[in-house]
Amino acid sequence: MTTTITETYGVDPTPTPLALLLLGREADPNSERGVECPGDLPPASDPNLVERARAAKATLGDRVFILGHHYQRDEVIEFADVTGDSFKLARDAAARPEAEYIVFCGVHFMAESADILTTAAQQVILPDLAAGCSMADMATAEQVAECWDALADAGIADVTVPVSYMNSSADIKAFTGRHGGTICTSSNAKRALEWAFEQGEKVLFLPDQHLGRNTAVRDMGLSLDDCVVYNPHKPNGGLTAEQLRDAKMILWRGHCSVHGRFSLDSVNDVRARIPGVNVLVHPECKHEVVAAADMVGSTEYIIKALDAAEPGSKWAIGTELNLVRRLAKAHPDKEIVFLDRAVCFCSTMNRIDLPHLVWALESLVEGRVPNVITVDPETEKHAKAALDRMLALP
Ligand code: 13P
Ligand code: SF4
Repeated sequence: MTTTITETYGVDPTPTPLALLLLGREADPNSERGVECPGDLPPASDPNLVERARAAKATLGDRVFILGHHYQRDEVIEFADVTGDSFKLARDAAARPEAEYIVFCGVHFMAESADILTTAAQQVILPDLAAGCSMADMATAEQVAECWDALADAGIADVTVPVSYMNSSADIKAFTGRHGGTICTSSNAKRALEWAFEQGEKVLFLPDQHLGRNTAVRDMGLSLDDCVVYNPHKPNGGLTAEQLRDAKMILWRGHCSVHGRFSLDSVNDVRARIPGVNVLVHPECKHEVVAAADMVGSTEYIIKALDAAEPGSKWAIGTELNLVRRLAKAHPDKEIVFLDRAVCFCSTMNRIDLPHLVWALESLVEGRVPNVITVDPETEKHAKAALDRMLALP
């Protein structure tokens, strides 16, 4: 008898329809991450890149506002006017109506959200269009519409409120807005779920099953049995109508390719290696990792926790490596290590490098506006309703 990969490892081998393109090559106009990046990039070996970025930024002055997500490379963060997690950057973008150009050093879904939240006169630029997010690509508009039909067939669509993580395409945010739901980030997921359970009896949480499960179980007191996982690659999500009706949290089967790799073994290993270590992880990590950690929170939370930490304290951090390295450098008085040495950088966040930033800024100086991210007005209207609900959460 032969065993399948699914039986052996519990892994669903079906490729998503948006399986990763060769980075920076080919084009997939249906993908959340957009299409290939045009343009003549300066070589990474150009010794004048820092000078060129400074000069272009100075020439543009207040016309340009550069946002940098915490997972960006140091060489890019150096030029950011503000840094933040996805929640803070969404608010910062909305608070800068005077900047003609918002250069978003982050990933595609963040730039889309910035476009939705900024005025029609402002243009949002993503320095490399291949900077997408594999998690956002795990939920397409067609798959989510099918899921909603399955909920309607089970007789529960009317009592279900969609809550979508910021890490989703504008289409998914628009679906959420159309069905009376809200967006959340890892900083406000608990408040979003509290709000959603005041509006309805069940939540459809998209697309990160881990953030949904961790928030429901760790912060809201629900049990793992209250949660079911909807697999978009299976008929009816792989669930019976009864399972859907019994669940309180219907979790989309999506995950972050970076945070999903931290394991319980890595937590046990670091505790054995570094006695007294505090394990601090992002809520996109698996439930067993979060359950074994000492502290859990968004990137802003992680930064604040380390700012407040005692000199001499020891920390193992489970989030993206660019941020962990920067934190270790910023706190030489504390011992800060990366939770799992086998986990890599976020490859799409790392697409934005200094050559792409220089290219984007110099293009603006020359009067060309490259890589503009625009969301169509109908999608924008509904996505904005969902984002506004998030920004109004208490
Ligand atoms: P936050 O910025 O909300 O912490 O999210 C982490 C992340 O994975 C962004 O892509
Ligand atoms: Fe997406 Fe994870 Fe990368 Fe964030 S860290 S952009 S969620 S793949």
